[in-house]
Amino acid sequence: MNWYSNAIFYELYLRAYADGNGDGHGDFAGLRQKLDYLQWLGVDCIWLLPYYPSPLRDDGYDIASFFGINPTFGFLEDFRITVEEIHRRGMRIIADMVVNHTSDQHPWFIEARRSKDSATRDYYVWSPNDDLYREARIIFLDTETSNWAYDEHTGEYYWHRFYRSQPDLNYDNPKVRAAMLEIVQFWMDMGLDGFRVDAVPYLFEREGTNCENLPETHGFLRELRQVVDERYPGAVLLGEANQWPQDLIPYFGDDDEFHMCFHFPVMPRLYMALARQDRSSVVDILEQTPPIPPNAQWATFLRNHDELTLEMVTEEDRQFMWEYYAPDPKQRLNLGIRRRLAPLMENDQRKIELMHSMLFTLPGVPVLYYGDEIGMGDNVELFDRNGVRTPMQWTPGENAGFSQTHPSNLYAPVINDPIYGYKTVNVLNQQAARDSLLHRVRQMISTRKSLPILAQGRLEWLDELPPEALCFWRTTVGERFLALHNLSDEPFDLYLPPGYTYTDTFNPEADPIDHTITLPAYGYRWLMAE
Ligand code: NOJ
Repeated sequence: MNWYSNAIFYELYLRAYADGNGDGHGDFAGLRQKLDYLQWLGVDCIWLLPYYPSPLRDDGYDIASFFGINPTFGFLEDFRITVEEIHRRGMRIIADMVVNHTSDQHPWFIEARRSKDSATRDYYVWSPNDDLYREARIIFLDTETSNWAYDEHTGEYYWHRFYRSQPDLNYDNPKVRAAMLEIVQFWMDMGLDGFRVDAVPYLFEREGTNCENLPETHGFLRELRQVVDERYPGAVLLGEANQWPQDLIPYFGDDDEFHMCFHFPVMPRLYMALARQDRSSVVDILEQTPPIPPNAQWATFLRNHDELTLEMVTEEDRQFMWEYYAPDPKQRLNLGIRRRLAPLMENDQRKIELMHSMLFTLPGVPVLYYGDEIGMGDNVELFDRNGVRTPMQWTPGENAGFSQTHPSNLYAPVINDPIYGYKTVNVLNQQAARDSLLHRVRQMISTRKSLPILAQGRLEWLDELPPEALCFWRTTVGERFLALHNLSDEPFDLYLPPGYTYTDTFNPEADPIDHTITLPAYGYRWLMAE
């Protein structure tokens, strides 16, 4: 089995994780101090959000130089030492690579907008008017009204799928494609184990299409995969394509594009199932998900650094999700919800655990978002998605143990309310309390890793049950695992399928289980059947 197929990924934002030099911003030095924690938690692979020089108009997804490190995070040498330390602990590290666009502060763009015949003009997509590609949707709906922005200096429009400060690269230009492959190799040579490749559906533009998932885009991704396979065997490419299952599958290609892709549509349905106490949305989407190539694997998640996207649900379901999970308009952003997991679950540890249990037992590799393992809160007063990117809460001490600076220097205020504030919610307290969320998540991680059946097993639903029971087998030749979830706030009795003896995987020494189980409200059980 590939290393990534049963790995636990952990997404972290360098600026938010730990401040090693006391300037109020997290950095590589701070991350190094926390590697013991990540190892203790059971993380196999860290995913770092962009750390490149950037004006931070989109938190680093606006890259101003592909070959450096944002000075607030450290130096290239810091990067190298950090990677070494991670590897020494038997962990891996992947980083974001933003292939679709650059910052408008990137020298290519500065030069491009200097004149219509500048050397890098054709690195970007220009037009004398804004008529082309009308069928392409606008992604940052709350901020942008068009995918074209007017450049006063040269009197033409440039194309951008995200903020206007992020001009799209022109993938029809072979120099752009070659440059991107060079950048990827530069960072792989620095020791990365792969990339999370940002915004991949939008690389090419073609009139008369919605400019997503075009054949030319897949062509470039095959080139990228070839370079990685040939030069860096064992590396992983994880694609970010927020698409329906039928459009996602082609991103695995014939085992020749991405090794892994996020399964975006399943995520909101986990929340929907819980809210409605009805498993059907999760069952339906997984039944509509075609099989993937043998070496491929899904990446699944509950939350990440963006808004909880509702792009991959129907209009009716989106309204339901907004009304249920984001009753205050401040909690909404674009087509999503800018809240963290714990507040979405009303800080009910039973529900937070239940969501993790579904994540860990359904197909796909879990990608955890920093802070969710302790149930951190959010701050909707902060701009854009910054409310879910606040400093990691390590201790009940000053600045949540994140930094030794004066609080006024912090890049963002720590969460400090009575429920989710750092004095209550922090790693130190939860490490000391045996029944804390942190210990439960850690136990799920280690149990999941000891059960390769969860990486490879076929999924079979238990159908003859009330809607609030989300129960399924994972099976391989000769092995059967049974996951039981109660989505409701009432306990219920469940008759286990006959013909097997069941062992609780969290407590394998306990007596085998009889054929009736009572699942408490929001309860879950993981059983091996023999
Ligand atoms: C997806 C990233 O997750 C998001 O944070 C970013 O704003 C866009 N891509 C643009 O790079």
